[in-house]
Amino acid sequence: MEYFFVPGRLRKLSWVELDSVCKNVLGFQYNLTEEKEYFVLKTDLKKSFVEKIFSRLGGFLKYGEVLDNNFEIEKLFDNKKIVFGISSYYENFCFEDIKKLSYNFKSEFIKTGRKVRFVLPKSGNSLSTSQVLNNRLISEGVELVLLKNKMGRTLGVQDIESFSVRDYKKPFVDSNMGVLPIKLTRIMINLAQVKYGGCIWDPFCGSGNVLLESLDMGYDVLGSDIDTKALDGAKKNIKWAKKYFKYINNSNLFFLDVQNPTRSKINLLKNYEIDGIVCEPYMGKPQRKALEIHKANSLVEQHYNLVKNLFSVLNNLKFEKPIRVVVVFPEYKTKRNWVSIPKNKLDFKNAKLITKDLHWSRENSIIKRLIFVFEYKSK
Ligand SMILES: C[S@@+](CC[C@H](N)C(=O)[O-])C[C@H]1O[C@@H](n2cnc3c(N)ncnc32)[C@H](O)[C@@H]1O
Repeated sequence: MEYFFVPGRLRKLSWVELDSVCKNVLGFQYNLTEEKEYFVLKTDLKKSFVEKIFSRLGGFLKYGEVLDNNFEIEKLFDNKKIVFGISSYYENFCFEDIKKLSYNFKSEFIKTGRKVRFVLPKSGNSLSTSQVLNNRLISEGVELVLLKNKMGRTLGVQDIESFSVRDYKKPFVDSNMGVLPIKLTRIMINLAQVKYGGCIWDPFCGSGNVLLESLDMGYDVLGSDIDTKALDGAKKNIKWAKKYFKYINNSNLFFLDVQNPTRSKINLLKNYEIDGIVCEPYMGKPQRKALEIHKANSLVEQHYNLVKNLFSVLNNLKFEKPIRVVVVFPEYKTKRNWVSIPKNKLDFKNAKLITKDLHWSRENSIIKRLIFVFEYKSK
């Protein structure tokens, strides 16, 4: 079977995420290729597996099946009332083509005596996630998708509702601290390639975004931080999320200053089987305007020291197998240029850098997030 996946804004990050999840969930029984606006996954595994893959992703808007060339459109609709929408992810089709095709389908369906309604894209050539959801195009209707030389049918869209509940309803938010956006958090967790049910540690957990998303994706979590107020907040958030979303995995949170780890904290960490680390070490207060160069350099240095110390902590622990450490590094906009850590400094004992050139940023942002994945092997 072939499935199409439509990535979000940052295509390269989405590609690496999907490939990472496929490797982790499917092993090597898949083939991934790219078209200009979407990716194609070929696999013999069941549809329910592909659904599982999609539900984990942070970097994708929708996915669906690629239909056979001789598919019968009639058979896609089992309701008396027909509701459909058409999106194009192929440059040869524009909005006018979508409109014309929608009217043609409508007049064909009307001939069969059924009531028909269709939805047109509000902007661009494709229906937004919320248009697909609000018009129930997956549960009660159909979103047809124009691909290169083929058509597809959408099977799922990003679960924006559950993301926004965690974003806006959780009881504790620290407005003085930058927090990881949920979609990026999920991407980073996926890059860690931890097997379902394994344990993820965030040593700079703050209010606990990595922990909440990891619980949502079926992992046990370990969270630590130097800030006791943030730790209390993260505990509140987890308690709330476990009740709201009925998460069943384990969570343990404790104080740890990675720059000054006591013997008892190292011993405590030794009790846990950690399968992956996902974190965003402190990058300074949220910034509103370009920084002075010396300020940016000092923040870069401060962040680097936190990461260096984290790897020293790891060198005191014993890991049975290699684990992945996924870390955000900041890049600051200064009045002259962008400032980040020189790549040759990313050389930590027992750790090998395995990705490059992955980043996340919003338009006009002052801080870019560079995403690095290390493979860490205990000596
Ligand atoms: C950017 S925040 C983490 C945000 C978190 N990922 C989230 O999305 O909620 C960085 C965290 O690093 C913590 N931190 C700073 N210095 C630390 C240290 N020496 N040891 C442990 N945590 C530290 C801060 O207290 C802060 O909560």
